[in-house]
Amino acid sequence: MTKRQTRIFFLGSTALFSLIFLALTVDTHQRIRTLTHSGEITPAVIAGKHVWHRKNCINCHTLLGEGAYYAPDLTKIAEQRGAPYLRSFLTDPSKFYNETRDRRLMPNLHLTPGEIDEVIAFLSWVGKIDNQGWPPRPILVSGAAIPGSDVGGAAPQAASDDPVAVGQALFRQTPPGCFACHSTAAGVNVVGPSLSGIAATAAARVTAADYTGKATDAAGYIRESILLPNASLAPGANYSANGVSLMPPGFEQSLQPAQLDALVAYLMTLK
Ligand code: HEC
Ligand code: HEC
Repeated sequence: MTKRQTRIFFLGSTALFSLIFLALTVDTHQRIRTLTHSGEITPAVIAGKHVWHRKNCINCHTLLGEGAYYAPDLTKIAEQRGAPYLRSFLTDPSKFYNETRDRRLMPNLHLTPGEIDEVIAFLSWVGKIDNQGWPPRPILVSGAAIPGSDVGGAAPQAASDDPVAVGQALFRQTPPGCFACHSTAAGVNVVGPSLSGIAATAAARVTAADYTGKATDAAGYIRESILLPNASLAPGANYSANGVSLMPPGFEQSLQPAQLDALVAYLMTLK
């Protein structure tokens, strides 16, 4: 290359890449409104962000990867856990964790019910930001770290059309996010009870004297538990608040009939 050619090459490529950089910047600014759903930033969301800062949640947690790494990332927590659970948890975190088992605890921050609703509104908004697939898989909280727990790992794809395989894969995907609350390892109770042996548990529960639902067999019980969490509550102090299950309602709308059948088929294999 002659000196002149080198100069043209230098100036030309600098101009080209400056243009690409500028175009990408403009593109980001144009799309940021839709990606962040800025129209959904209600006064409650803003108030929740203030609670988040006032109480220094970021000293322990991350949002979109920003913050401290002491406690779990909360980017998708509203979708993973649902508002009823978050409300109970934030009222008294110590009821949900055990220092010996989890080795770390979230302090009770004494949030008022109003502040709790605001921070949930904020976290729900954050969860809806289109961050183009980040985090690559949900970052899970306690329970994931317990030996023998199968919670975590990349979301699997079903290897075949067999309903059991489809159900097993679906169970580990978000949505519906069943595995964020249920482990299939025995004795690992996270937000909801372990579903190890659920087929047998379900069969016993429909015949129990205190059973309040309408199912007559194990598969019916599992189906009812998914569609109508309040029909009968699994025994356990932290699984419901004021008689309302902490399992979110709405799977009736969000799951297609075939998906529901697959989940039931899979859970029926956990004997
Ligand atoms: C001193 C550190 C600390 C602060 C401050 C803190 N947290 Fe936590 N948080 C934790 C830890 C640790 C956990 C994991 C649960 C455990 O092991 O106790 C957690 C868990 C959570 C969870 C998940 C619960 C679950 O079971 O999925 C939510 C939601 C949460 N925190 C919200 C908040 C909010 C909102 C704030 C601020 C108002 C906050 N945290 C402030 C330490 C903290
Ligand atoms: C936000 C947490 C959460 C999510 C997400 C969740 N569950 Fe639950 N689940 C619970 C809680 C808490 C209970 C216990 C209270 C009750 O009986 O409803 C429960 C109960 C159950 C039961 C009955 C267990 C028993 O011993 O009686 C089944 C079956 C079940 N869930 C399946 C599922 C499936 C399948 C999904 C995904 C489609 C799912 N859950 C998603 C929290 C959750």
